[in-house]
Amino acid sequence: MLENIIEEILISEEMIQKRVKELGKQISRDYADKDPILISILKGGVYFLIDLTRAITIPHTIDFMVVSSYGDSRETSGIVRLVKDLKEDIRHRYVLIIEDIIDSGLTLDYLLKSLQAREPQSIEICTLLSKPSRRKVDLHVKYLGYEIPDKFVVGYGLDYQQYYRNLPFICVFKSDVSVISKQ
Ligand code: XMP
Ligand code: MG
Repeated sequence: MLENIIEEILISEEMIQKRVKELGKQISRDYADKDPILISILKGGVYFLIDLTRAITIPHTIDFMVVSSYGDSRETSGIVRLVKDLKEDIRHRYVLIIEDIIDSGLTLDYLLKSLQAREPQSIEICTLLSKPSRRKVDLHVKYLGYEIPDKFVVGYGLDYQQYYRNLPFICVFKSDVSVISKQ
């Protein structure tokens, strides 16, 4: 049962959808005539990307990467591994990285360095969530949905051991749940 895994709902479905629409408008204004490419990090960032892409009213393309830094545990290993690379060439393109959450920032720091080497026109970060108190590296985030406290959250793409990504809201996961309890 969901009550067994949810401590509190931090960001409701309505709040997420409202913010996504605002970000879509902002990006459409900032990138008009720039033909941006939105790069999402599988799997968590995909839910956000799909809603965001429908809120953007200018021509743009999308692509995906898989980067692994967490495994199935709740704590970062600090080791970032590129599991799947982009299909598109991003040279001279306006790149927007679409993330679900920035925690320590180590994942994005690694990604930015690796993508910068391909000489894009620009790279900016768009993340739905950020835990600023957890940051280990300095990152410039151009588009931010919501700042959240240092709590482990699931929903809207974020998982615990691959489950709960489908929840339409962001909620704090009960810290005493050690065995997966399926919906
Ligand atoms: P870093 O520390 O590199 O981590 O910024 C980014 C990645 O860590 C995962 N992450 C979470 N996943 N609930 C989750 O389900 C959380 O509260 C959480 N905090 C970080 C996530 O995969 C993100 O891309
Ligand atoms: Mg995860």
